[in-house]
Amino acid sequence: MTASEATRRSNLIEGSVVYPIGSRVNDRGRLEVGGCDVVEVTREFGTPAYIYAEDDLRARAQAYLAAFRGRIDDFEVVYASKAAPFTAAYRVFEQEGLSVDVASGGELHMAVRAGFDPARIHMHGNNKSDAELRQAVDAGVGHVICDSLAEIERLDAYCAEAGRVQPVLIRVTPGVKADTHTYIQTGQLDSKFGLGLADGLAALGVEAVLAAPNLRLVGLHAHVGSQIFELEPYVRAIEALAELADPEWCRLLNVGGGLGIAYTEADEPPSIETYVGVKVRGIERVFDPVPRIVVEPGRSLVGNAGVTAYTVGTVKEIPEVRTYVAVDGGMSDNMRPMLYGSRYEAIIADRADQAPETTVTIAGMHCESSDVIVRDAILDAPRPGDVLVTPSTGAYGYAMASNYNAVPRPPVVFCRAGDARVVVRRETYEDLTARDE
Ligand code: LLP
Repeated sequence: MTASEATRRSNLIEGSVVYPIGSRVNDRGRLEVGGCDVVEVTREFGTPAYIYAEDDLRARAQAYLAAFRGRIDDFEVVYASKAAPFTAAYRVFEQEGLSVDVASGGELHMAVRAGFDPARIHMHGNNKSDAELRQAVDAGVGHVICDSLAEIERLDAYCAEAGRVQPVLIRVTPGVKADTHTYIQTGQLDSKFGLGLADGLAALGVEAVLAAPNLRLVGLHAHVGSQIFELEPYVRAIEALAELADPEWCRLLNVGGGLGIAYTEADEPPSIETYVGVKVRGIERVFDPVPRIVVEPGRSLVGNAGVTAYTVGTVKEIPEVRTYVAVDGGMSDNMRPMLYGSRYEAIIADRADQAPETTVTIAGMHCESSDVIVRDAILDAPRPGDVLVTPSTGAYGYAMASNYNAVPRPPVVFCRAGDARVVVRRETYEDLTARDE
């Protein structure tokens, strides 16, 4: 390959939408993330590993804040922590001045432990247990987002017992269908989430909270889905919320998360700036006075900040059929291809400057045929021992990881300015038996 071809390859990584901000090909021809040579990082910490560029996480948080600051004064950016629920991520976003969305007692525990002021915690869940409601109230969370009439009753009863008045929002199902995988649509009436507008439940929810002596209704919430590129449904959801909202009590409008990210080079999601602009304008058009505007991004804060590094093992060539390149992870560290049919890019990190020309299917090491990470990836001919990287795995990879086949879950490594540090250690075989009696 010519020197200019190598330069061109490097430029492709630098200008890429799927790699963390600041990624490049270094002078050894290897992929660099957060100033760290990914091959060196794997030598030190092993594979598979989730590797994040810390600066990328911070830059995306700042992009959200800047997009709001340029438009309005009263806003809140809430990190939907289900996307990457580990302490270091909670800490980064706490430091950047974000609030946090927790969807379970476990996430609440993690957010508090990571140092979030409880007032900045928003507690979600379509089936919060009594124990979780108590945990939220006792912790003093800023907002509980009520998902059902029964929950409103239970929460009010507990607040009476605890002698507290809890600010709440009502989660509304606005009857809007977002253009995304059906598994992650949440705004349509036929949903397990929230109180419907069309069936009148949301209005009943408003009445119930207003009548509850220990709850204070402060606003509404709607989240129409995830991995969304088409922003128009947000405008419709906002209009639907406006029908229900009353300035008497609606001081806060949480219009959810959902901004999609690029998983492949062909993906063109809207920018954070555009997304915030559409939501703010949509609200300004139909709300007077304009309440505090709250958004709840998860994926778009962490998704492109992280990559997964694997080691290539068995290469199985079936003549005229397909070549399988097996790596040392798979559906236990990234369920998304199997669950949603999601596409990913891939690269051989050792030779990131080479033009890829071999079509292979990247398989995991798990005991089922669905365990394929990328079908028909084009790579520089993979060899056993190579480090294979899939970018854009920062969201819902670690979050949905499992111990299938008793595989210890990978570590999380943060890279910044050339320093790599483990922020979640790799599970050990001891961990695998630690809870067994
Ligand atoms: N707010 C609520 C109430 C949510 O349920 C979610 C995501 C978010 C905010 C954040 O959405 P985001 O900005 O990340 O799109 N496991 C799936 C995604 C499930 C999303 C669940 N809720 C995936 O891997 O694509």
